Amino acid sequence: MTSKPYLTGHYAPVVDEISATGLTVEGALPPELTGRLIRNSHNPKPGVTPTHWFKGSGMVHGIRLREGRAEWYRNRWVHTPALDGAPYMTEHGPDLSASTAGTHVIEHGGRLLALCEANLPFELTPDLETVGPFDWNGKLTSAMTAHPKEDPVTGELHFFGSSPLPPYLIHHVASPDGRVLDSQEVPGAGPALKHDFAITAHHVVFLEGSVTFDPTEHSGIPYAWSDAQASRIGVMPRGAGGAQRVRWFEIGQGYAMHLANAYEDARGRIVIEGPSVGRAGWQRSWNWWVGAPDRGAEPNSGSRSRRWTVDMAAGTVREEDTDDLVVEFPTINDAYLGRAHRYQYALSFPDDLGVGNHTLVKYDRAAGTRQLLPFGTGQLPSEAVFVPAAGGTSEDDGYLLSVVSDLNADASRLVVLDASDLSLPPVATVHLPRRVPAMIHGSWIPDTDLA
Ligand SMILES: [Fe+2]
Repeated sequence: MTSKPYLTGHYAPVVDEISATGLTVEGALPPELTGRLIRNSHNPKPGVTPTHWFKGSGMVHGIRLREGRAEWYRNRWVHTPALDGAPYMTEHGPDLSASTAGTHVIEHGGRLLALCEANLPFELTPDLETVGPFDWNGKLTSAMTAHPKEDPVTGELHFFGSSPLPPYLIHHVASPDGRVLDSQEVPGAGPALKHDFAITAHHVVFLEGSVTFDPTEHSGIPYAWSDAQASRIGVMPRGAGGAQRVRWFEIGQGYAMHLANAYEDARGRIVIEGPSVGRAGWQRSWNWWVGAPDRGAEPNSGSRSRRWTVDMAAGTVREEDTDDLVVEFPTINDAYLGRAHRYQYALSFPDDLGVGNHTLVKYDRAAGTRQLLPFGTGQLPSEAVFVPAAGGTSEDDGYLLSVVSDLNADASRLVVLDASDLSLPPVATVHLPRRVPAMIHGSWIPDTDLA
């Protein structure tokens, strides 16, 4: 028996790759849901016990929907050299292709990419077979974040590469058809861990929390909390030469793994929102990720919704907690990415003692309210992916797609929820032929994006 929490229960890896067709659907799948929901999660091979949850090899799970039908489910490991045991560190330095590729999966320029922030992306076919590492036609010589941001207005993809050693931070922009247009090293950045970032209409926002490079950390992910590491927000103007005008603002100590969104308000201030965690919550979470004692009951402990408002003219940052729930995996309607959004979705976790249910949360920032959809015992929903309804007019006119791990039935199902009102019964439920290991990220990829 393993004592690693990430190899048991909702997180237990599956042992093989399967394909299934003609999935059972309850309710009615909206015909505009024609595409693929692809999720990525850590799934080490049988017999392999990674030293850190995030060191587990990535496996993608795809659900193919077309015009009201659920045509197929299939799961595939991302076949990288690391899956076959190739080490990240070699005598020639890091092997950027030795990736778990197990954090996220996105589409850009018609290309599917499985991502892990320490490595090159891995290209996949629409049937989830592995093509190989993708270095943006030679333009990417460092790692790539697992959380790139596609500007919904320009179609450009913003992403960064970070490293514990110089150059610490390089920002890239790719055209809608996938050509790297610009790469700039960002002055003032350091070795602090950078997992996510944000863009606004005119700026790029980086976060450096109080988690930084620590070569004495031996889990395979050499980062640790440091009280000596100031937390900072970097705001960089978009466009040529913007990096030379980046400004860094010190904030209270914390670590924001994910950001919900950022935007410029009517006064030109930069507003940034996302869950943030303090030292104790970080340590309990980390201990779960490495299977150490003194861990939380859940992989996320203590992260709460926070807002940072950066007043560039005054040189100040206002910080405030915006809710008391423990949440992570924030999402929005991506048509509002970089612009003021009204609605935000997130996954709330039981408290640090494991009391309570996993719950999807919808925040209405205009009304200052939240709506909760608790799942029952043994039910763990994934990050909610918003898909707009055909002909939708309001920001929340669409669907939330979530794959629910059901320990009671040893199965998983895709639920399609009406994003405008979480109290309504699911629009549709697709029964999957196997349990899908919980957590980490995914995307809805409409057929129109792969054409
Ligand atoms: Fe992430």
